[in-house]
Amino acid sequence: MPMPSAKPSFDTVVRPYGMAAIAEAAAHVAAGRPVALPTETVYGLAADATNAHAVAAIYAAKGRPSFNPLIVHVLDLDAAERIANFNVHARALAAQYWPGPLTLVVPLRRDSAIARLVTAGLSTIAIRVPSHPVMRALLEACATPLAAPSANTSGSISPTRAAHVLTSLGGKIPMIVDGGACTVGLESSIVAVGDDGALRLLRPGPVDLGLSVEHGGAIEAPGQLASHYAPSKPLRLNATYAESDEWLIGFGPVAGDATLSANGDLIEAAAALFDCLHHADTSPKPRIAVAPIPDEGLGRAINDRLLRAAA
Ligand code: TXA
Ligand code: MG
Repeated sequence: MPMPSAKPSFDTVVRPYGMAAIAEAAAHVAAGRPVALPTETVYGLAADATNAHAVAAIYAAKGRPSFNPLIVHVLDLDAAERIANFNVHARALAAQYWPGPLTLVVPLRRDSAIARLVTAGLSTIAIRVPSHPVMRALLEACATPLAAPSANTSGSISPTRAAHVLTSLGGKIPMIVDGGACTVGLESSIVAVGDDGALRLLRPGPVDLGLSVEHGGAIEAPGQLASHYAPSKPLRLNATYAESDEWLIGFGPVAGDATLSANGDLIEAAAALFDCLHHADTSPKPRIAVAPIPDEGLGRAINDRLLRAAA
């Protein structure tokens, strides 16, 4: 069995906000490396939302044991509407609160270029338009939507200063843009907008719409999301061969009908996971089998998702 790819390690540099820092951060993003920077809420760990490998690198750096869908940041409502479908209700909220600390969960457009790993395979997407000048400068420099969870390792508290990020993610990311302390210091409110305009508060936050959190709506812990994507077919794990009625998703030495990563690279496998699951779901075979994935690093998040899909 080939060794899973070594965890990337970096000499993390902290640069004060300015044109040079933004150019350097944009170069990292273009090369698929996540960088940390402030938003008005908390520091985010941002990567190109259209690049599945870059999004996988966010999970690798955070050490998250599961794939929770991430928030995508864009410059304005026009950019958001190129990614998701906004009905009149969603547009009204955007008009009133953007730019600012409100995240809207809306239906993902089929033709959007967003990597499936960003939404963890869901048909909806969480989007917000940040007001912070540093995040806005990076969005302008990169000219691509940026997926950005809070810039901390899994299970630790959200960072509101560059020093917090360095303590948590030092050595795991190439760069932190220091833009001072976050003004809000609390993660954005998350509201799902229904077709009929019904609003569901998924995470309370700085924007108060007078809603109370839905029972089971908060998605702070892995797996709490009610609508986790799972394939519609039965799934068999740790498969080294395919039965005649199975579509086999391979990894490393197990070739399969499609592979997550032929050379056993966990970042590549994470990037391919939801595409492979969707592909397997639409294959002519009635069942899905998946090769063993090492339970370490990103492999833990992959296995967490596969176990849920198989349950
Ligand atoms: O203030 C913030 O929102 C910060 C800054 C960096 O912008 N970002 C942030 O992102 O908190 P993150 O990835 O840590 O939070 C994402 C939350 C999770 O609870 C996730 O489950 C939920 O958003 N979420 C994302 N997409 C969703 C979807 N399609 N449906 C329901 N919940 C979703
Ligand atoms: Mg977080």
